Formats: sequence, structure tokens, C-alpha cells
Amino acid sequence: MTAAEENQPSAESSGTSVDTLELRNIVKRFEKPGQGEILVLDGVDLDVEGGAFVSLLGPSGCGKTTLMNVISGLVTQDQGTMRRGGRDVAPGDLSLGYIFQEPRLLNWKTVSENIEFALEARDIPESEWQERTDRYLEMVGLGDEGDNYPTRLSGGMKQRVAIARALAIEPEIILMDEPFSSLDEITARDLREELLDIWKQEEKTILFVTHDINEAVFLSDYIYMMNTQGEMFARRNVNIDRPRQYDDPAIAQRETELYREFHENVVH
Ligand SMILES: Nc1ncnc2c1ncn2[C@@H]1O[C@H](COP(=O)(O)OP(=O)(O)OP(=O)(O)O)[C@@H](O)[C@H]1O
Ligand SMILES: [Mg+2]
Repeated sequence: MTAAEENQPSAESSGTSVDTLELRNIVKRFEKPGQGEILVLDGVDLDVEGGAFVSLLGPSGCGKTTLMNVISGLVTQDQGTMRRGGRDVAPGDLSLGYIFQEPRLLNWKTVSENIEFALEARDIPESEWQERTDRYLEMVGLGDEGDNYPTRLSGGMKQRVAIARALAIEPEIILMDEPFSSLDEITARDLREELLDIWKQEEKTILFVTHDINEAVFLSDYIYMMNTQGEMFARRNVNIDRPRQYDDPAIAQRETELYREFHENVVH
């Protein structure tokens, strides 16, 4: 396969009617104490195809969360456009769910109330709250935990609540920022498989941030790779049949290939 072919839209995500979210030339600088202005995103382009599972892979501090924050509107870019279906869009025009690096649950509210709080913030009619809360807690395997409090849940369970909360608002696009990085590998593997089941069943579009190459290969249709200069230096399709198995040698091979590219572009 040539590099040009490799970067064509992936077969699994084509054929959907949902328009691609297109980011073009996104530039973001931050003022840092003692360092002056630093360039965090240097002309980043990114296409999130409707229905695709897309990963954003890069080392710590390269600007992954900043890019997610630009998409969600928590940070405003200095330059660059976001378009969908040929039109400029602002974050408020998008139907987004955001799962942060840490679960960010309200400890004084029950699990169900945490989800209802998100539904209320999105102006979802109260008559739908209970049905949605029950349905999505069930989906992430926490059907019995609605009346429990977050402080009494394990880290993996808290992340499941955060996933249920994002799903409950029924967004088109789900942004996930290293949601499993603080979990042990056994729990993380279970959650990745559950996430893929939900992605397929609910026909969502997912943009998933990680610095774990194996995780990106296991999950994604295609992967964007960032370096520490704030540049998106490659987009690579995974091209491994689903459902994927962790012990499939094709996964290890793809991981090695991508690691080599990182080594050339990131590790100095
Ligand atoms: N609000 C802010 N003000 C100033 N600097 C910021 C701000 N947010 C992020 N930065 C800086 O921007 C750079 C990129 O941060 P970002 O959080 O996007 O990295 P990341 O790729 O998500 O890293 P990690 O994998 O560790 O989460 C870092 O140097 C960080 O200190
Ligand atoms: Mg981050």
C-alpha cells in the first residue's frame, strides 16, 4: 500500500451520511510563566469522519487536550477553522459529549443524579431523565449503582459513569481524553471492548486521545500522530479486521510501525 492510499478514508467509516468534521490550520499559543508564549498547536489539520473511531496519539504535553478543548469550545484557537458539510461551525453547533482525563463526578450527588445533572444542563426534558439514566448505566454495566455515591466506586466504575453520562446526552460525536490511562490494564481492556461494542451499536463518532500506541491501534479506524512541536505529522489507517484480538500479531506489527514513525518524529 502506498502512503497516499493508506491515508484515504477508511472503508469501515465510509458510507455514513454524517458529515466529516474538518479542522484546518488550527493554531494555539499559551502564555507560560517564565517561558513567554509557547506554540502548542502549529497549524493542525484533522478530519473526523462520521461514524469513525479516530485516535489522536502523541506524547505528554504535545497539545492533545488543548485540541479537544478547541473542538469543545473550552479553549478558543488563535487561528484556524472548523467546518462540517462545507460550512463553518462553532463548538456550540456540534452535538458533543466530552469524557475528560479524569471522571469529574460530583461526589455529593448519586451516580444517577450526576447523569441527570448533565441532562439538565443540556435542556433534556425531565420526563426523559430516568429512562436515559437507567438505559446508559445498564449499558456500561452499572445498572445497580444509580443510588450509590461516586466516592464508593472504584476508578474503573467512575470512568464507566463518565461514559454513561456522555452517552446519555446522545451526542453525535464523543470526545474521550485518555479515559483509561489511570486504570490497570485488565480493567482498561474490558472497558475498551465495551466501548467498541457501544460505538458499533449506537453508531457514534469517537475522537479518542491517548499516548498508548497499542490502545490506539486496538481501537481505531485511523490515527492522527502529533509531535512535541504541536504538529500533526501523520494520519495512518489501521486496516485490521474487527473484532480485534489483543494477541493478533497484526496489532503488534502495526504498533511497531507507528512507534518507528514516532521515534523519527518525536524522540530526539
Ligand atoms: N490553559 C493553559 N494555559 C497555559 N498553558 C497551557 C494551558 N493548557 C495547556 N497549556 C500548555 O499547553 C501544552 C499542551 O498541554 P496539553 O494539556 O494540551 O497536553 P497533552 O498532550 O494533553 O498532555 P498529556 O498527555 O500530559 O495530557 C503544555 O505545555 C501545557 O502546559
Ligand atoms: Mg491531556
